[in-house]
Amino acid sequence: MLTETLEPQTENTDVFPINGTDYIEFYVGNAKQAAHYYRAAWGFKLIAYRGPETGVRDRASYLLQQDKIRFVLTTPIRPDASDEAHVIAQHVYEHGDGVRDLALWVDDARDAYEKAVERGAESVHPPRVMRDDDGEIVIAAIKTYGETIHSLVERKNYKGLFMPGFRPVSARYEPQGVGLKYVDHCVGNVELGKMNVWVEFYAHVMGFRNLLTFDDKDISTEYSSLMSKVMANGNDRIKFPINEPAEGKKKSQIDEYLDFYGGPGVQHMALATDDIVATVVALRDRGVEFLQAPTSYYRTLQDRVGKIDEPLDVLEGLGILVDRDPDGYLLQIFTKTVEDRPTVFYEIIQRKGAKGFGKGNFKALFEAIEQEQALRGNL
Ligand code: FE2
Repeated sequence: MLTETLEPQTENTDVFPINGTDYIEFYVGNAKQAAHYYRAAWGFKLIAYRGPETGVRDRASYLLQQDKIRFVLTTPIRPDASDEAHVIAQHVYEHGDGVRDLALWVDDARDAYEKAVERGAESVHPPRVMRDDDGEIVIAAIKTYGETIHSLVERKNYKGLFMPGFRPVSARYEPQGVGLKYVDHCVGNVELGKMNVWVEFYAHVMGFRNLLTFDDKDISTEYSSLMSKVMANGNDRIKFPINEPAEGKKKSQIDEYLDFYGGPGVQHMALATDDIVATVVALRDRGVEFLQAPTSYYRTLQDRVGKIDEPLDVLEGLGILVDRDPDGYLLQIFTKTVEDRPTVFYEIIQRKGAKGFGKGNFKALFEAIEQEQALRGNL
């Protein structure tokens, strides 16, 4: 059942104001090569770097950016690393390359941290002030599901590029962007029975509300099913769907993720574009692989979604999915997992009014995912 539960909060009632996603930090085995992948295939620009050359002895970080989307790729570089870098190495060992930090941009990091911890958030570290000639950043962090964290980043007194410690890079190699604009939503996979625990965390600790709920009747195929609740912050700029597996005939895609990631973590990030056809053509040309919907999907599409601006044959040729809800329609497509472990993948999304998450596409999408699972011997 699709349920819209609550009206959006007004500014005054937002108990945990967040301006938007600040950055997404990945812990990876080889940040130099991962950075090249996101530049060459995804059109991100290398903006800044932090590592031994800038005085950090035990790790290297690359800041990549495309419009409002910022990725930080961090890797440990020494076997006898400090405690902090050892956490990175352990994270990579356990999870493979994965998302460590969904960092949130706030106006007052001390206040946000204090309130979150007061309401039951587990601390990663209290507010730290980092300074350079461009001013200061205040950053604190709290834990969420698995080993994922939320840094709370205050940058109102900082006029530099990103944050102290990072040195701007001007690269000769600068591939064109592919039209990605901002982070639309980030999805977490958690264990059976834990969805509501994290829904409660986002509601109680961070003042989010339950925007949508999908139960196992919405999201099921012959083989597997899942349940999902979408949590959104006060101004709707942050949307975190939380998935848990549901009993099915065979192993669900969420179980496969939990097995290979070694626990809960970020499953996919949806990146928004204003022109999904151009973005997907560019990504495909650079080697990004997408899931392919069954051809039967397009036979009934017109009846299901009505009139849309994009030619259906173009969408079918690219494998782009369409769904309509009361506010409009959306176009979306999902990549295959982007690593050897079947864990992290991306969604490309273009919203034309629609505020949903493509419920009408779940069946076609999950059948496509199951084909991939079967090829891996994990179904
Ligand atoms: Fe999504």
